[in-house]
Amino acid sequence: MIEVYKMSLNDLENIKEILISDFDDFWNYSTFKEELSNANSYYLVAKSDNEILGFAGIKTVLDEADIMNIVVKKSKRKLGIGSLLLKNIIELCKNLNISTLFLEVNEKNTPAISLYKKFGFKNVGFRKNYYKENNAIVMKKENL
Ligand SMILES: CC(C)(COP(=O)(O)OP(=O)(O)OC[C@H]1O[C@@H](n2cnc3c(N)ncnc32)[C@H](O)[C@@H]1OP(=O)(O)O)[C@@H](O)C(=O)NCCC(=O)NCCS
Repeated sequence: MIEVYKMSLNDLENIKEILISDFDDFWNYSTFKEELSNANSYYLVAKSDNEILGFAGIKTVLDEADIMNIVVKKSKRKLGIGSLLLKNIIELCKNLNISTLFLEVNEKNTPAISLYKKFGFKNVGFRKNYYKENNAIVMKKENL
């Protein structure tokens, strides 16, 4: 059974060595560690039998939040874990009285864009060359 918990520093230590190889190369360990200790950041982890399958996090500013990342272990993708994490992130935002959720996504990242659309996110902006040579789409979900 997969369960979703608040991510602890211990969870991060658990995946420190495989963070880039088995998840993604988006952030290094020290940036992530800093994020985890930020008072306005909230991270969730999906676990099964103590194996970390994915994680997702937000940063809040007043009644808005940005999705900082949502990442599933490469070997466990397309099994519904990204959806489970996003559903829990939206629930968390409701509990924090967040009214609007934003994110930036690489315009070439079809899996992520499909996931966000499935949860009702709409395109609201475009940031040229946000990811080196790739553009970012800004997406937003209101009325959580
Ligand atoms: C994006 C990501 C988190 C999706 O996680 P996942 O566990 O594979 O997603 P799910 O199995 O819950 O799939 C949810 C929806 O996403 C879409 N999706 C997932 N993988 C897809 C793919 N390879 N191609 C197209 N759509 C895809 C589908 O719409 C799917 O809905 P469906 O199952 O009803 O068809 C995962 O691909 C990932 O970790 N990517 C690398 C990190 C990343 O780019 N994160 C986002 C930017 S921060």
